[in-house]
Formats: sequence, C-alpha cells, structure tokens
Amino acid sequence: RVGADLAGRHVLVSAGGTREPLDPVRFLGNLSTGRQGYALASVAAARGARVTLVAAHTELPDPAGVDLVRVGTAAEMRAAVLAAAPDADAVVMAAAVADFRPADYVPVKIKKVDRADPEPVALVRNPDILAEVSRDRAAPGQVVVGFAAETDDVLANGRKKIARKGCDLLVVNQVGGGLAFGSPDNQAVVLADDGAETEVPYGPKAALADLLWDLVAERLARSRPL
Ligand code: C5P
Repeated sequence: RVGADLAGRHVLVSAGGTREPLDPVRFLGNLSTGRQGYALASVAAARGARVTLVAAHTELPDPAGVDLVRVGTAAEMRAAVLAAAPDADAVVMAAAVADFRPADYVPVKIKKVDRADPEPVALVRNPDILAEVSRDRAAPGQVVVGFAAETDDVLANGRKKIARKGCDLLVVNQVGGGLAFGSPDNQAVVLADDGAETEVPYGPKAALADLLWDLVAERLARSRPL
C-alpha cells in the first residue's frame, strides 16, 4: 500500500461506549472497549490523515498523532461529532452509543428504598447521531460509515440498518460468543449502499481498519477528489 494515501484528508472517528448517568455514581453503559475505533484512528493517522477522535468511555491509552475529544454521554458525543463533521472528508461512527438514557438525572445518590419493589427507571430515546450525520452531509461528497453489532440475522438486519441510517458503508459483525466486544480481533462484512458486500476475515481490528480505509479512500477519490 502507498504509505500516505490519506494525506490531505480529515477523518472523524467516534469510539468507546457512552455512559448515561442515573445519579452522581451510577450510569447505563455498555461493553464497548473502544478498540475498533482506536484502531481506525491510529491506522488513519499512520496513512497520513488528520484525525479527530471523539472518544466516549474506554480504558485505552490516548493514541499518538490524533486530535482527541473526550465525551461521556450520547448528547455530548452528538455535540462533538456535529461540531467536527463540517470539516471532515469521512465520518466513521465506531462508538457504541446508548439508544436510551434515563429520563431523569437525580443529582444526589439514589437511596435504597425500604420496600420490596424497586422504582422503575424511565428511559427516553437518544438522538441517532449516525442517521443525522448521514442525512445532513455537512460537507459535499462526505463518506459516512456506521457499525452494527448484531447477535442474530446479521446480514438481513445489516441491510435494513444501512437503509434506515442512510450511511454509505455499514460494518456488520456478529457479537456474542467471544466475538467483537472486548476482543482484540474482529470478523465482519462491510455492506455498501450500492449493494456491494466485502467480507473481512477473522483478524486483528487494525486489519479491519486498513480494509475499511481502503473502501473509504476509493469512494473519496470519486466523491471528493483532492
Ligand atoms: O442502531 P444501532 O445502535 O445498532 O446502530 C449502530 C451505529 O449507529 C453505530 O455506528 C453507532 O455509532 C451509531 N449510533 C449513533 N447514535 C445512536 C445510536 C447508534 O450514531 N444513538
């Protein structure tokens, strides 16, 4: 591969798992480690791109050579992504964004109540950042990529999801049984809006990142020539 084939490009990557607070010490979260998003950011930087990495919760060390923006909740991630998107040639949403958040934030630690039935937690829907970025296309010819972790009917659900979200590419992978979440390896199929499918063999998350940037670079050469 040509060393710096993403030189002159600005890419925006989201990573990690959002945390939606219930009170000052509790949150709704997920098992995302941030590894796939961090691999995407590091590989893009190594291939010459300017990288903005919007990171929700992860325990990974800060990657070198990227502009890192730390966020907590989905709402914070949305604000950071929408702020950076107008200047980005490509947006890759690898973060695990909570679909719902607690309807109410309790500003003091919620006390145990002395009764058999706990209070139900009311949830409200979070905005879908990927769908919004795909719809708005803040820069002409911008390439937008989503991820979809599925436990069943992986391809069928993926095809529905790429249509619903309106993104150009969707990386679908099967989760559960030790795959994807928490693992250094990944196995996936990249679906394209034109119906193309690219299988990614089981391997390191950096290899998936390289293949994905190949697909993005190919599209950018057509949609946003340098
Ligand atoms: O709908 P689902 O959560 O499976 O979609 C996953 C994809 O959508 C990921 O790319 C994720 O980053 C993005 N997403 C988002 N905003 C949400 C939920 C998911 O951008 N509220």
